[in-house]
Amino acid sequence: MKKKLKIALVGCGRIAQRHAEHITNQATLAAVCDINEERRNELATKYNCKAYATIEELLQKEKNLDLVSICTPNGLHAAHSIQCLEAGIHVLCEKPMAITTDDCKRMIDAADKVKKHLIVVKQNRFNVPIAELKKIIAEGRLGKIINVQLNCFWNRNDLYYKNSDWKGTKALDGGTLFTQFSHFIDLLYWMVGDIKNINAIIRNFMHKHNVEFDDTGVVSLEFDNGALGTVNYTVNSFEKNMEGSITVFGEKGTVKVGGQYLNVLEHQSIENYKMQTVFEIKPANDYGFYQGSMSNHDKVYENVIDVLTNNGTVATSGFEGLKTVEIIERIYKSAQDK
Ligand SMILES: NC(=O)c1ccc[n+]([C@@H]2O[C@H](COP(=O)([O-])OP(=O)(O)OC[C@H]3O[C@@H](n4cnc5c(N)ncnc54)[C@H](O)[C@@H]3O)[C@@H](O)[C@H]2O)c1
Repeated sequence: MKKKLKIALVGCGRIAQRHAEHITNQATLAAVCDINEERRNELATKYNCKAYATIEELLQKEKNLDLVSICTPNGLHAAHSIQCLEAGIHVLCEKPMAITTDDCKRMIDAADKVKKHLIVVKQNRFNVPIAELKKIIAEGRLGKIINVQLNCFWNRNDLYYKNSDWKGTKALDGGTLFTQFSHFIDLLYWMVGDIKNINAIIRNFMHKHNVEFDDTGVVSLEFDNGALGTVNYTVNSFEKNMEGSITVFGEKGTVKVGGQYLNVLEHQSIENYKMQTVFEIKPANDYGFYQGSMSNHDKVYENVIDVLTNNGTVATSGFEGLKTVEIIERIYKSAQDK
């Protein structure tokens, strides 16, 4: 039997619960680390592993770690990933990879220097209808892509921001596109490619008292391949999440994958072809008073283990993580002073 990978988790908050569960199912959770004593001890007790207050101590005391998973606030991903990479350990970093492209570049350089993997969590790529859509685009079944539309209509209320010491802050959160919708931006890049022109208007309509940035935006895009696109996003959908969808118009087919979490094939009309997926039953990550993206972290760890033990292909590389951050940065730059 293959040796189980030894993994440590940095950050023991909400998403770390998902990581801990799937690490334990597929590998060994050796240690957790969090500056918050209660959170690190709770997770360490639940999974019977060591708890550390700092990354320095974790790296010093835990020998033979194969991977560290970074689940800290967005603005700390770069420093924490680089620290672990420089200790010679592979890193799985939560999305967004960072909140500036400069930080992403430093992370990629650090990984290159020590020849370790830097993998970014983009679990929506594993949603069944999304994976199928990506496949048929790559096979050319939709023909040339001419237009794509992304709708991100979620609810993040006052309680959501009140319950966090970093969400809503420019320095650690970065913006609504980083925390709520970077998965969606990633899909644009992954499915349609890089973007030539961006024109954006953003506003903070409902969260001026507790969020330092946009809560709503409209963005028009022109891709390198000539396709046009729009992104319409808000966290002001009344009372609850409403929709997370992507519609792709190709010369030979139109497909919409929607539902709240890109989990429902809502429309398909494709020349001589029918997609098989109708609905993905798996629930989204449920945090009690709000819901996040699809809960596909099991697939993320399957990929990480395949990469580290079987020479598999990284599902989302540092470079792809950077592209999402770069596109979001360009959207915010375009929106400045408008
Ligand atoms: N893939 C997804 O669908 C998904 C879902 C939710 C969150 N996330 C991402 O995961 C990350 C964490 O989000 P969350 O909602 O779990 O946040 P959270 O606030 O619940 O957890 C973050 C944890 O990091 C800890 N921390 C802060 N500074 C630290 C340090 N220097 N060393 C060690 N620990 C430190 C905090 O004490 C906290 O417990 C964010 O980047 C977020 O964008 C991804």
